[in-house]
Amino acid sequence: MKSFSIAPTARLVGEIMVPGDKSISHRAVMLASLAHGPTELTGFLPSEDCLCTLRAFQALGVDIEIRDPTTLSIENRWSRLCPAMEALDCGNSGTMMRLIAGILAGQTFHSRLVGDASLAKRPMGRIIEPLEKMGAHIRAEGERGTPPLILEPAELHGIDYELPVASAQVKSCLLLAGLNAKGVTRILEPSPTRDHTERLLAHFDARPLREGRSILLQGGLTLGGRDLFIPGDFSSAAFWIAGTAAIPGSEIRIRSVGLNPTRTGLLNVLLRMGAQIEESVEEGRGEGEPRGSLLIRGGKLRGTKIEKAEIPNLIDELPVLGAIAALAEGETHIRGAEELRVKECDRIRCMVENLRRFGIPVEELPDGMIVEGGRPIRAARVSSFGDHRVAMACSILALQADGRSRIDDVGCVDTSYPGFFRYLEKLSQRSAEAVEGWKEVLSWTQPRPGPAGTEKAPRRPVVAIDGPSASGKSTVARLLAQALGIAYCNSGLVYRAITWALIGKGVAVERELVFKTAVRQMKIECRIEGNELHVWIDGKEPGQEARSPAVNAMVSRVAASAWLRKRLLPTFRKLADEHSLVMEGRDIGTTVFPATWYKFYIDADPKVREQRRKKQGETDSIEDRDWEDRSRPAAPLRCAADAVFLDSTGMSVEDVVRRMIEALRRRGFPVPKRPYVP
Ligand code: S3P
Repeated sequence: MKSFSIAPTARLVGEIMVPGDKSISHRAVMLASLAHGPTELTGFLPSEDCLCTLRAFQALGVDIEIRDPTTLSIENRWSRLCPAMEALDCGNSGTMMRLIAGILAGQTFHSRLVGDASLAKRPMGRIIEPLEKMGAHIRAEGERGTPPLILEPAELHGIDYELPVASAQVKSCLLLAGLNAKGVTRILEPSPTRDHTERLLAHFDARPLREGRSILLQGGLTLGGRDLFIPGDFSSAAFWIAGTAAIPGSEIRIRSVGLNPTRTGLLNVLLRMGAQIEESVEEGRGEGEPRGSLLIRGGKLRGTKIEKAEIPNLIDELPVLGAIAALAEGETHIRGAEELRVKECDRIRCMVENLRRFGIPVEELPDGMIVEGGRPIRAARVSSFGDHRVAMACSILALQADGRSRIDDVGCVDTSYPGFFRYLEKLSQRSAEAVEGWKEVLSWTQPRPGPAGTEKAPRRPVVAIDGPSASGKSTVARLLAQALGIAYCNSGLVYRAITWALIGKGVAVERELVFKTAVRQMKIECRIEGNELHVWIDGKEPGQEARSPAVNAMVSRVAASAWLRKRLLPTFRKLADEHSLVMEGRDIGTTVFPATWYKFYIDADPKVREQRRKKQGETDSIEDRDWEDRSRPAAPLRCAADAVFLDSTGMSVEDVVRRMIEALRRRGFPVPKRPYVP
């Protein structure tokens, strides 16, 4: 279980963008999957929650291509959904389960929705009851109406429904069901909740009508695919907004963040507490969601009262509000927030317990809490209780403690904010600190073009692994490819096969003209067979001879030929037209696939590498070999700027592979749910 240690900081300073909006990312994948025609989504949030939605729609037959972690191309070529072969895994996401249930309730096939231990406790009666009224055949397998959910084929009809709780998830579930229902679906909200579904329906050509507190949607409308830009998630920005406002001397600017008024209730509360916040709205790109930038300056805050009417528009921000209430003078009362008890954890009980560990006097109420602020914050060890927002809220508070604090079980943060802890380090002006001591440099950032800005991303996902001799990259690459169920390619094999053929013809590399003519006349075939790269020269495979001492002695000179390397580029790149690959070598991330998003550079202590080479029977000096690799003019060995750097010294191969799988998940690679690593 991952934990994170946080040192106190004097202030938070910087300028950032936050990852894409989680609520909109889920909905955008869903609606684009139902639409006729293609959609390109930019600014998608590649977090665990949203990747579950992405995988589910792939399983339902929709073509979803991950161009880079935040850009998706979505097209439903069947103009309908196809039954999934297995249960659809909603992971930790209540939003996904409730919304997708609305879509699947009116299909002609059976579906089963499952989730993790936290989701298995969340109430589904709130969607089951109205969906049944619409004609759905839906059943909860858990006790007390909890997941898994089973949906049988049904024909739906519109209903008039008054929501008993102000819930955007229930409203959205019914609107999505209403799309596929006969007649009109009319939903009455007790108070306005986030309206992303309504805005997105309009974006995809099915505009609902708003009449006072009611929303009306005509069933049977056809959605049209349309490109969409997703703004930064206000709920992720909230940790920096609240933290900056409450820590005197801080100053943070957040750009391109969603400023939909049904989400920004936190700003009103903070302003009431005396915060200094400047908001400037940016011109939209026609996507129907307001966004802009915020400039927050830190100062002394005072306590306030938050009542029921305000709750729906700041529901996800209450954990961080509870945390920074401890930094404000006087009491902060949070009331009417009983919904917090049925989130990813019981956020009232868990925040109260954590605040007490930080030495803060707090009273637990059935529907909220009263926090007494202005007391010293004691360094503490607290748990996230498996809830991403509890983890991040407590991390912000820990910045003002009297010593180092530790947050346990922080893996859940990836469900909404991959990269959060790196930003925490950056904004509190400390250098990157390792999570669990793992030496990793992971540049999880906004999309950026490949080095020259011109290379096209490979058609299929490619994991590029580079590194020096005996760094362990071949063993790791083979195992990683197996775990991901994709093809393993050793690029060195191509140079070896060519060297073997040259030796057979008695051609030396040094005789440039003869060498080039010999290679030009060769028929070089590279194909993936049995999930591994095979090479034939003039119809023959070298087999074990590719590793003969004669080949060993000559291959590095052959591979140093700039002419040959250039000539082979299209051959390597073509492999990714049809296969997802793990390709290893010395220049895969820098030259062969500079535009892939999934790059690793593996190194190890030279002494360890020397020993490994001796074991393999190779006797030349590792220093000389490294120097040759790094200084050759053609595609020298380099760690790409956006590669994950891994030092494998003292790590088992399996550990390295597990680390790589974690990093791939964070970068949005479509990793199978349970990758097999022995
Ligand atoms: C969400 C709605 C809210 C919110 C959740 C996301 C959504 O839940 O807490 O994080 O995307 O619709 P409720 O609708 O249950 O209040």
